Amino acid sequence: MTPQQPLDTTAPVVNRFDSTAAWRAVDDYFATLIDEDAALVAARESGARTTMPNAEVSASQGALLALLARAAGARRILEFGTLAGYSTIWLARAAGPEGRVVTFELDEGNAEIARENLVAAGVADRVEVIVGPAADGARGLVADAVDPFDLVFIDADKPSNPEYLAASLHLTHSGSLIVIDNVVRDGAVVHADSDDPRVQGVRAVVADIAADARLDATAIQTVGIKGWDGLVIARRR
Ligand code: DHB
Ligand code: MG
Repeated sequence: MTPQQPLDTTAPVVNRFDSTAAWRAVDDYFATLIDEDAALVAARESGARTTMPNAEVSASQGALLALLARAAGARRILEFGTLAGYSTIWLARAAGPEGRVVTFELDEGNAEIARENLVAAGVADRVEVIVGPAADGARGLVADAVDPFDLVFIDADKPSNPEYLAASLHLTHSGSLIVIDNVVRDGAVVHADSDDPRVQGVRAVVADIAADARLDATAIQTVGIKGWDGLVIARRR
C-alpha cells in the first residue's frame, strides 16, 4: 500500500469522481448573481410537467441569454422550443416592454403550461407561442415576410437544427445573434459515427455554420446543474 498523502488544501475541489456535485455546488454559489424571481422559479419547476422534464436551461444560462439579448439590444427574439417557457421569460424580459418574442412549441400541453408561466411573469403581452412543428412555423414567418429578429435561440428537437438554422438565416439581419443549445451532450458531439440523431443534428449544424461566410461563431462548453453541455453563439456579419 502507498502511504497516505497529506491532504492538499490548495488543490481544486473538482476531481473526476465528484465533478457533477462540484459543478452543482458552484452553480448554487453563483446564484447570488442571478435575478431569478418567483415567476421564474415557478416556470423552471413546472418543467417537470412538460414532455421533457429538466430540459430547460439553468438559471445561469437563462441569465446569459438575457445578457446576450440586452448586449445586442434585441427587441425581436425568436425561439425554437418553448417547453414551459423558462428561457422565454428570460428573453422576453430582456426584450423589454416594447419587445416581441415568437416561440415555437410542438406540444399543446407544453404550450398551455408556458402561457400560464408567461402570464405570471408579466410578459404574456409580448410573447406569441406558436403551436406545431417549428419548421412549419418558421416557414410561415418567412412567407409572411415578418420583420427580422435580432436574436434567435434554437433549443428544440436536435435533428432539425440545420433546418432551424437555415430558417433563422431567412429571419435575421446583419448583427443578429443565433444561439444554439445542447451542442456538447457530455462530449458525444465529437463522435462522427454516432448513431444518435441528436448528435448528428448538432454536428450538421456546426458544419453548416463553419461553412457559412455570413456567420462568426464560437462554441462554449458548460458544466453545472445541467451536467456537461454547451452553446454555439453565432453572429451574422
Ligand atoms: C435535450 C434537449 C434540450 O433542449 C436540453 O436542454 C437538454 C436535453 C435532449 O434532447 O435530450
Ligand atoms: Mg436545451
